Amino acid sequence: MSDPKKLFIKTYGCQMNVYDSERMAESLGGKGYVTTDKPEDADMILLNTCHIREKAAEKIYSELGRLKGFKTANPDLKIGVAGCVAQAEGAEIMKRQPMVDLVVGPQSYHRLPQMEDALARGETALDTDFPEDDKFETLKSRPKAKRGPTAFLTVQEGCDKFCAFCVVPYTRGAEVSRPSDRIIREAQELVEAGVREITLLGQNVNAYHGHDGGLAGLIWELDKVDGLERIRFTTSHPNDMDDALIDAHGTCDKLMPYLHLPVQSGSDKVLKAMNRKHTRDQYFKLIERIRAARPDLLLSGDFIVGFPGETEADFEDTMDLVRTVGYGQAYSFKYSTRPGTPAAERAQVEEDVKLDRLHRLQSLLSEQQYDIQKSMVGRTVKVLFEKHGRETGQMIGKSEYLHAVFADTTDVAIGDLRDVRVVKTERNSLGGEIV
Ligand code: 5AD
Ligand code: SF4
Repeated sequence: MSDPKKLFIKTYGCQMNVYDSERMAESLGGKGYVTTDKPEDADMILLNTCHIREKAAEKIYSELGRLKGFKTANPDLKIGVAGCVAQAEGAEIMKRQPMVDLVVGPQSYHRLPQMEDALARGETALDTDFPEDDKFETLKSRPKAKRGPTAFLTVQEGCDKFCAFCVVPYTRGAEVSRPSDRIIREAQELVEAGVREITLLGQNVNAYHGHDGGLAGLIWELDKVDGLERIRFTTSHPNDMDDALIDAHGTCDKLMPYLHLPVQSGSDKVLKAMNRKHTRDQYFKLIERIRAARPDLLLSGDFIVGFPGETEADFEDTMDLVRTVGYGQAYSFKYSTRPGTPAAERAQVEEDVKLDRLHRLQSLLSEQQYDIQKSMVGRTVKVLFEKHGRETGQMIGKSEYLHAVFADTTDVAIGDLRDVRVVKTERNSLGGEIV
């Protein structure tokens, strides 16, 4: 038998891309590829790309520039671009970088095996369709090989919300929910392979409608899967947080007390210009209801500063919202113009103003995050251990609040779920002792 061919995948962007990269690797596994973490050994290099901000997209072209050397060293090397830049730019990528052999969008990667056939014939391959055939039906079941204790599982893709800043409705298309029976089967396969925690993914995951009762209905079905200990989901839109989902946070033991609920801005004027379709007050009321259901829930958010038309007073409204809500985790960005989106056409805020606001917001958010971590010291949390630390005898896992927790122990295995008393906090992690 000939040696297996080697595939190196580099993943950018969100967790949906992490999931897609796994599925692409599995799909090419059928064509004799095994994954490698050394690009210099690869027969195929795939960049799974993100288009959410200009910087993310530009990174791809500089990375492709760097890959030229590998292609010179190995002329048989195939180079592919997958993901959201592939979807947005299509054939343009091959024009800008003629050494690219393959361009595949996020909705058509189940066709990778046929595309690989074309590459083997010395052709190039391009597929950025939104095809009728369901990629998940083609990809079917997951491999049986033993894997780590946590996994992502995409349940919903695309977005119908059309926030004025966002490319996702264009790169990932309209909202589509996978049927719940397939998701349950995939969850069972993951559990059989050793998974104990599943994070359900979707660009608008709480708009999931593939089961009665929406995402909450699906979560209650997954609650019945033996061996599955923890359920999480991301990313949610405030307008899709229905009563059943809020209620599940209080009543479903497997659903973890962590919620990523982006608000983007604290100014009503900016929220309206962003087409978010809710006010700051509605967001506050929603947070109150969620915290009434699950008082210890840790909130996470996304923020954009310098959206077109944002004044200093609007920005202060965002700072005020952050102080009022209190976030345990947050991601904040300068507004980045995305071609084809409504806000790209508007008068832009100056770059240095954006940068100044970003710094002020980030220092507030990181103080809040640190304060919440400090408040964990002395508490006992449940940690799912995921890997060995850099020091021998050290194990690293995640608490129910998604904090990274280190423990000095030789008596814990990867995949163990253990009570840990938090004894100290670093800037981005907690230190604990096994109880
Ligand atoms: N500029 C800056 N940030 C953006 N995001 C989405 N589009 C843009 C943009 N054009 C941020 C939002 C979103 C997160 C995934 O990325 O905060 O929630
Ligand atoms: Fe980036 Fe959005 Fe695509 Fe995820 S879905 S990779 S965040 S553009």
